[in-house]
Amino acid sequence: MFYLLELFLLPLFVAAASTPKGWHFVQNGTTGIVALEVVVVSPTLAVMFDRAQNDPLQINGHGAWGALWNFETNTATPLDIMSDSFCASGGILSNGTMVGVGGQFPENPTTEPDTDGRMMIRLFNPCTDPSGASCKVIEDPRTLNLAEPRWYPSSLRIFDGSLMVVGGTHNTTPFYNTDPENSFEFVPKKDGGVPRPSPFLERSLPTNLFPRVFALPDGKIFMIANNQSIIYDVEQGTETRLPDLPNGVRITNPMDGAATLLPLSPPFYTPEVVVCGGSNSSDAIPSLQLSSQDPASDQCSRITLTPEGIKKGWVVERMLEDRMLSEMILLPDGTVMIINGASTGYAASHSVGDPIGRSNADHPVTRPVLYLPNAPIGHRFTNEGLPSSDIPRMYHSSVTLTPSGNIFVAGSNPNSNVSTTTTYVSEFRAEYLNPPYMSVARPALRNVPTTIPFNHPFTVPVDIPANLKATKVQVALMDLGFSSHAFHSSSRLVFMNAVLTPDRKSITIVSPPNNRVFPPGPAFVFLTVDGVTSTGAHVMVGDGTSPPVKDQGIRLPL
Ligand SMILES: *[C@@H]1O[C@H](CO)[C@@H](O)[C@H](O)[C@H]1NC(C)=O
Ligand SMILES: *[C@@H]1O[C@H](CO)[C@@H](O)[C@H](O)[C@H]1NC(C)=O
Ligand SMILES: *[C@@H]1O[C@H](CO)[C@@H](O)[C@H](O)[C@H]1NC(C)=O
Ligand SMILES: *[C@@H]1O[C@H](CO)[C@@H](O)[C@H](O)[C@H]1NC(C)=O
Ligand SMILES: *[C@@H]1O[C@H](CO)[C@@H](O)[C@H](O)[C@H]1NC(C)=O
Repeated sequence: MFYLLELFLLPLFVAAASTPKGWHFVQNGTTGIVALEVVVVSPTLAVMFDRAQNDPLQINGHGAWGALWNFETNTATPLDIMSDSFCASGGILSNGTMVGVGGQFPENPTTEPDTDGRMMIRLFNPCTDPSGASCKVIEDPRTLNLAEPRWYPSSLRIFDGSLMVVGGTHNTTPFYNTDPENSFEFVPKKDGGVPRPSPFLERSLPTNLFPRVFALPDGKIFMIANNQSIIYDVEQGTETRLPDLPNGVRITNPMDGAATLLPLSPPFYTPEVVVCGGSNSSDAIPSLQLSSQDPASDQCSRITLTPEGIKKGWVVERMLEDRMLSEMILLPDGTVMIINGASTGYAASHSVGDPIGRSNADHPVTRPVLYLPNAPIGHRFTNEGLPSSDIPRMYHSSVTLTPSGNIFVAGSNPNSNVSTTTTYVSEFRAEYLNPPYMSVARPALRNVPTTIPFNHPFTVPVDIPANLKATKVQVALMDLGFSSHAFHSSSRLVFMNAVLTPDRKSITIVSPPNNRVFPPGPAFVFLTVDGVTSTGAHVMVGDGTSPPVKDQGIRLPL
């Protein structure tokens, strides 16, 4: 009787729970591993990575450190991985293969069968099975290797569809980068596999882990490490120094701030980067003299990466609160969400004078905030209507926009192993932040072609709810990026010119002009009508061939 009643009531409850308007956090399912790296790999799946430790999700009789998260069932399936993927990075190549790079030397050899991950390249080929049952991580220590060991590197898909791997350290380090690998290399290899030394990474020691790196629409790379910035020309191999971040604010690990390339719009795709939070503590102070109670920075700095913008330099704004360990998520309407993190302390574990358990950070910030890039300065931050989560998400947490258009949040673990007894536990609860459009009638794109060449107009049917006037129509081409250690690498939003037919039944969209404006590879297309966003259509931008791919499309107007 009770069982029947439950069966009967459950769907009613779910329907009622999913209808309220506004922003909502919803907890659903557990990740089974600490999801400290997350990357969306298909319309239904994300790959998550952790370190080899005593995680509850099991495979072959031991704790898993990789898993697939299924957005439809809200369940995790373990992945069989050989090398330790702790504190790695990654991205997706022009042929759709996801690549994870780097990791750590085995830490728990008595309980876990992991091999050295520091030089590993892990491949996950395009997965067409919605459940991922037949999809695996490919590793081969004889052939799939980086040139140098890298723990805490960053990765970025560039204009030719390959992955650029930036910096890192040779070995685990308690706080600062004391054994640095100050170089760039590529997957697949360039220059015969010889890494390119970087004076910029040398200069930005000892606070240069997980550099914040962005592909500019001319193909060059903008990079921030510590409080310094450069533009790197991949083709010429030259670094051009740009202004330091103002007021001594540092934004790379272990002083993690959040940074993003703002949405790019036609016809000029003028690149702007905003960085928020981090810390203005001196990096000459030994970590034991720093405190988990040191305030994080509330500073945001924004720069336009044109000759005039660079001359003007960084423009400073202030967030509503101090933040570090936060991440920035581009939303399909062009706003930026700042989510997760703490308002005091630092990244890393058990290295400041007064950690909370092993956490160098304290005072979790559980309420996200929106940054409106086009609002006048002083009016760009709002948390109106945004809820707080019950769950602290600090070091080793992750977040990503999903193909449905909501925000998946997971992880957090300052502990050296799974701990359920510390103040800041190892966190397995998965959570979604649902934007208001998740609970109203939404527009839909139909029959979007699976492959979209550059500079290419295409017309597709659309459904637009009758209550929308369609005064503002936006079509966003998005790389959902790779989340690791408060940086969402390769994340990108390029708005595409789009014209609705007068009967509102179809839309003509023009793809980005070339492979430098949008590095070739997988993407999702979202339609937003009067602020209400559709689900994303999964597409391949460019021809889907393996890197390095040749320049495609047309040049930008000067
Ligand atoms: C949790 O996810 C499952 C699987 O998608 C779904 O059936 C259920 O409605 C969700 N629960 C809530 C409270 O959203
Ligand atoms: C950047 O940091 C370095 C090293 O701490 C410092 O010497 C320099 O003054 C800082 N730059 C700015 C603009 O604060
Ligand atoms: C450093 O950051 C803290 C916290 O935001 C702030 O109170 C302080 O004024 C900043 N110091 C400088 C020199 O900017
Ligand atoms: C992690 O936990 C497992 C089981 O609880 C234990 O066997 C192992 O020794 C721990 N490892 C470390 C490094 O604490
Ligand atoms: C994509 O390219 C990479 C690098 O060359 C290669 O290792 C991988 O096998 C390719 N994937 C597919 C699906 O062809």
